[in-house]
Amino acid sequence: MIRKYVYGTPFDTEAVVGAYDLGADQPPWLTVSASGRRFSCPLEEEDQVYGLGEQVRGINKRGWRYVSWCSDDPYHLETARSLYAAHNFLIVTGPTRTFGLFVEHPGRVTFDIGDTKRDLLTIETEGEGVALYLVEGGGPWEIARSFRKLIGRSYIPPRWAFGYGQSRWSYFSADEVRQVAAGYREAGIPLDMIYLDIDYMEGYKDFTVNTEAFPDLAALSAELKEEGIRLVPIIDAGVKVEEGYPVYEEGVSKGYFCQNEDGTPFTAAVWPGWVHFPDVLNPEARAWFGDWYRVLLDQGIEGFWNDMNEPAIFYSRARMEELAGEKEKRMASGKTEPEALASMREEMGTLSNRLEDYRSFWHNTPAGPMRHDAVHNLYGGSMTRAAGEAFARYAPDKRILLFSRSSYIGSHRYGGIWTGDNYSWWSHLLLNLQQMPGLNMCGFLYTGADLGGFGADTTEDLLLRWMSLGLFLPLMRNHSTLGVRRQELYRYPDSRAAFRLMVGLRYRLLPYLYSEFMKAALRDDLYARPLAFVYPEDDMARQVEDQLFIGESIMIAPVYTQNAKGRYVYLPERMKLVRFRTLERWDEEILEKGHHYISVALDEVVFFLREGHLAPLSAGGACVEQVTAEDLTLLSFGDGAAYEFYWDDGVSTDYTDPAHITWLRAGSPKEAFHEHPGN
Ligand code: GLC
Repeated sequence: MIRKYVYGTPFDTEAVVGAYDLGADQPPWLTVSASGRRFSCPLEEEDQVYGLGEQVRGINKRGWRYVSWCSDDPYHLETARSLYAAHNFLIVTGPTRTFGLFVEHPGRVTFDIGDTKRDLLTIETEGEGVALYLVEGGGPWEIARSFRKLIGRSYIPPRWAFGYGQSRWSYFSADEVRQVAAGYREAGIPLDMIYLDIDYMEGYKDFTVNTEAFPDLAALSAELKEEGIRLVPIIDAGVKVEEGYPVYEEGVSKGYFCQNEDGTPFTAAVWPGWVHFPDVLNPEARAWFGDWYRVLLDQGIEGFWNDMNEPAIFYSRARMEELAGEKEKRMASGKTEPEALASMREEMGTLSNRLEDYRSFWHNTPAGPMRHDAVHNLYGGSMTRAAGEAFARYAPDKRILLFSRSSYIGSHRYGGIWTGDNYSWWSHLLLNLQQMPGLNMCGFLYTGADLGGFGADTTEDLLLRWMSLGLFLPLMRNHSTLGVRRQELYRYPDSRAAFRLMVGLRYRLLPYLYSEFMKAALRDDLYARPLAFVYPEDDMARQVEDQLFIGESIMIAPVYTQNAKGRYVYLPERMKLVRFRTLERWDEEILEKGHHYISVALDEVVFFLREGHLAPLSAGGACVEQVTAEDLTLLSFGDGAAYEFYWDDGVSTDYTDPAHITWLRAGSPKEAFHEHPGN
């Protein structure tokens, strides 16, 4: 049951599309301040808190103060309050009650989950106007599903987007891209995507191509597609200010950019230098910006990643002018220029993403003009929506790959997300795992982190361990920043066989992983499940922070500490350990419920099968298009194991045809393959 409580006049974020009742009486345990901006309720000792999507810390979010304020923060430290997203949904579950709360509010929201006071949950919005949705009925898993139903079906990418992707800031030319494709081909490691970072553009101008480096993008895209590889270019939020550049000219003449108080376009600096931000909260401007993606779609591009859309601001024109004035002032009082600048180090170091800037520009929303800070958290997701809505107009029957850095609940219907600029740190490998369930609860199923780590030099062992987690996650992309050690897998000759196994296994497991993803998307379910949800009665399972269920059959327990030769794993019931040493052969061992030390060599992949369940394996392939569901091998535990298998063409949007579902049974895969539900 879902009830909505309204305080003040909330801004309609369009997050909610499902049914709810209007709540009459507030629940007695919820205290609401007179301002209608602060909500608190006691937490019992045993209560656990889940959700909040892209955030720091564990799967259980209790014990920290989190702030929803989409931020370009590249460090993702344990002490961060905000990352790139605003996912205002949490679930409290304990011995006496379980409920979910969604805070519909587009500005800053603080979730103090037993931080200030260990036994108190306090949610506070900065601005007025809040719609609170209270979700009740069943355990935490049911609550998560009810909430997902409320916010509508999650974005579904084409099946090829479940392949492995290689990215780098940047591949600077068509030849470099060809070398990457050749590197993978020669190493015998499958590949489906090569990502183009900002340097494919001319002067970092959205929807342009640097034709010196990429003389014929359409031809390159077609050439790679022959090998089953797609090019996926980046699109940034800021549109370069440059006369003669049509996106800029049109945006200015139509008034489609975010505006200063005086109606002139707001100007900030990002990669291209001065930019204006398209006002994607204005439906007309959103449609206009979305239409520009056609420039690339028409060149054979079928996927995009949207970036810098918090929006990230390196500095604004106003802050720059202020700084110049301050320098003049200091020089007038006797300092030389270097002295003046030296005395202003602090001011210069804090220029980016400033609140004064977010408070200085405006959107034309359907509800009238809104100052940016009041609706800040909707910006990035609305850019995703611009693209998603354009794709639905342009190619309604075709799936286009789309994921974003910034997001809010609601934008999960238009695209996936990646979790931004992590580091090549072991702690970020664990964070990758811990973020997954919360993201799924908030609607983001097609998601993943930069495998190997974005910032800093990776190490070969970290990359191996990270890949053996990444192969189970929907968005499987290796990405790294300028200047750090290269992360393309073929560059590590000693680990080539191991990488071939890890990526190859992804393609062998694709029928299972894709089927689990599709069922999760179509049934508002979780793809990555915390053990606490699967075994709510098991005290030990409820505390597990470093294992996950991937769909119904497979439990993963990746190694995430350097030099470890294995790890302790908790089995909430008897399970079958599956150990892959080569792509063709694996060992199986049945283990009893309880704690086990499991050795896992750097070049192996280990996972666990739940009793009574199975996972179909394909013969593999060099790209997703080569993977078929014809000759499935069934990895199973238990004679009666049955599996509801979803398989469609992977490209069209006709998801609900019952012919996509087949039942597989252990023992007779071939026969069972043609058995449809109801037969
Ligand atoms: C941002 C993105 C990163 C990208 C870089 C350059 O930091 O998060 O993925 O490589 O910008 O475009």
